[in-house]
Amino acid sequence: MHTNCHLKAFLVLTFLLISGLELGYLHGASKAPVRAKHGMVASSEKLASQIGIDTLKKGGNAVDAAVAVGFALAVTHPTAGNLGGGGFMMIRFASGETACIDYRETAPAAAGRDVYLDNAGQIIPKASTQGYRASGVPGTAAGLCLAQKKYGRLSLKEAIQPAIDLAEQGFLVSDHLSDSLRAAAPLLELFPESRRVYLNNGEYFEAGSTLIQKDLARSLKTIRDEGADGFYRGEVAAKIAATYEPHGRWMTLEDLQKYEPKLRTPLRGSYRGYDVITMPPPSSGGTVLLEMLNALEGFNVSGIGAGSSRTIHLMTEVMRHAFRDRAELMGDTDFVKVPTSQLILKSYASEFRKKFDPEKASDSLALPARVLPAAEASETTHFSVVDKDGNAVANTYTLNGGYGSGVTIEGTGILMNNQMDDFSSKPGAPNAYGLIQGEANAIARGKRPLSAMTPTFLLREGKLFLVIGSPGGPTIISTVLQVIVNLVDFGFTIQQAIDAPRFHHQWLPDELRMENQGFSEDVTKALEARGHRLALRGFMGDAEGILLEPKTGMRLGASDPRGDGQTIGY
Ligand code: DON
Repeated sequence: MHTNCHLKAFLVLTFLLISGLELGYLHGASKAPVRAKHGMVASSEKLASQIGIDTLKKGGNAVDAAVAVGFALAVTHPTAGNLGGGGFMMIRFASGETACIDYRETAPAAAGRDVYLDNAGQIIPKASTQGYRASGVPGTAAGLCLAQKKYGRLSLKEAIQPAIDLAEQGFLVSDHLSDSLRAAAPLLELFPESRRVYLNNGEYFEAGSTLIQKDLARSLKTIRDEGADGFYRGEVAAKIAATYEPHGRWMTLEDLQKYEPKLRTPLRGSYRGYDVITMPPPSSGGTVLLEMLNALEGFNVSGIGAGSSRTIHLMTEVMRHAFRDRAELMGDTDFVKVPTSQLILKSYASEFRKKFDPEKASDSLALPARVLPAAEASETTHFSVVDKDGNAVANTYTLNGGYGSGVTIEGTGILMNNQMDDFSSKPGAPNAYGLIQGEANAIARGKRPLSAMTPTFLLREGKLFLVIGSPGGPTIISTVLQVIVNLVDFGFTIQQAIDAPRFHHQWLPDELRMENQGFSEDVTKALEARGHRLALRGFMGDAEGILLEPKTGMRLGASDPRGDGQTIGY
C-alpha cells in the first residue's frame, strides 16, 4: 500500500516534470460547494443570504430575493451594503432574456472637470475619497425599486420589510463586523453622525452586542411606502440636501430629483464555447473581461497548468494590455464614445496577443500602438441569486471604499459613497486604486464614473451555467477572469475556483500583484525571472458564485473564504 503510494507520487511527479507542469498553488483542498435543488443565495453576509432564501421560499423570484438582499446588506454589511451608493444588477431570466440595471452614481451639478484640483492644478489630497465632496448622487434606492417594480413578483414592501426589521430590532454584531467597524474608526470618527451611528459614540460595537439602527429603519420605511421617491424627494432627500448645504451645496434636491437608473444592454462574448453575458459601460468590467478571455483563448492554459508561472505570465500580459485600453479609452458612454464593440472582437485580441512575448514580461510604458479592427456594422459587495425556476441575478453594488466617504446623513442612517474618486481627478494621475485614467473618464455634471464592477453570467449550450462577481476595485475584473479560467480550463469546483490564490495586473503601476499566501516560491521566483515586478499583497476580492451543474441542474454555490460571506440553498 505504502510503496504503491510512493510509486504513484513518483509517477505523477515524473509526469509533471516531463510535461513541464509546475504545481503552482500551495493551498490544500477546498470544502465542497453548498448544494441545493431549488434556490440559492451567495452573499457576503449570512443574515442577508438568509433573507434572500426566505424571500424565495415565500414565492419571490430571483429579483425579489436580490432586492431583499440588497436592502438587508445596507443594514448588516455597512462597509459596502448601502443606500448611499450605487451599482449594477444583471438579470438572466429562465426564458433566456436578460436585463441590466445601471444604478451607478452620477456627478452632482457642483462637480466639474477640475473640482479636485487646487489653483496650481495639483490634486487636493483626499478630496475625492473622504468627506462631503467625495460623493456622487446615490443610485441604489432607485435601482432596487426599479428592479422590484419591473421584474419582481412580490411587493416592494415584502422585499424591504426584513431589512427594516433588522435595522429596527437590531442584530448581533459578528466578530467580522466588530473588527471592520473598529478598523474604519479613523475615517468614521471624523464625522460626528458616523461616530454616533457606527462607532457607538466612541465605545465601539463589541462582537455579540446588538446593533440597532432606528434612523436607517425610518429611511427604509419611507422607501417601502413611497418607492424611490421616498429617497429622492420628500424628507430623506431634504435631509441629504441639508447635510451638503454648508459644504458648497455639493448635492442638492435637484441633483437627487434628476437621478435616474438606466436599463443597459449587456455585452455578449464567448470563451471556449461558453457564452459570456457581462456588464457594459459605464463599467469597464465586461469589456476588459471579454478582451482578456478572447486573448487567452489563443493559449492552451489548461495544458500549461493552474498556478504555473507560465500561465500567470500569460494571464498577466493579457491583463496588462486590456487594462491599458481601460485607462486610455473608457468612460461613461452617455458622454464619450468608446469603441467597445471593436475592443471585444476576437480579431482585436488575436492581434494584441501576437504582440507580447510568451516568455517574458513586457514593459507597460512601451506597449506597441493599439490597432483597432474596423468598426462593425453593427469596498463593494457582490451577491448571486438563482431561484427554483432558473431565473438569476448577479448584483454588485458599492460605496467605493469601505464605509465610503465616511459621511452619514444626519437622522437617516445613510452612509454616503466616495465614488467620485472613480473618475480621473486629473487625467494621468492615479486614483485610490492606483488606476491611471484618461480623458474619457474626466468629471462632468451628471456623468457616471467608470467602474470595474463585473457582474457576469456564463452559459453552456445556451443554459445558465454560472453567476459570478466580486468586489475589489480593478481587481474585480481579474478575480472574475480567474474564477472563469479556473472553472473552464482547469475543471475546478466552484469553491476551488473561488478559493484559488489570485493575481492582478492593471497596466500601471507596472507590477504584478499577487496574494501573499498560496503561491509557491518557485512560481514567484520564476515570474521574477521572466521580468515581472512582483508586489505581494493581502487578499483580493470576495467572490460569491453559483454554478448550475449541467447534468442535474443542481445549484452549487460558494462564498469566498477571504470574506465573511455565506451561501445558503434550499
Ligand atoms: O466601481 C468600481 O470599480 C469601484 N468603485 C469598486 C470598489 C470596490 O470594489 C471596493 N471593494 N473592495
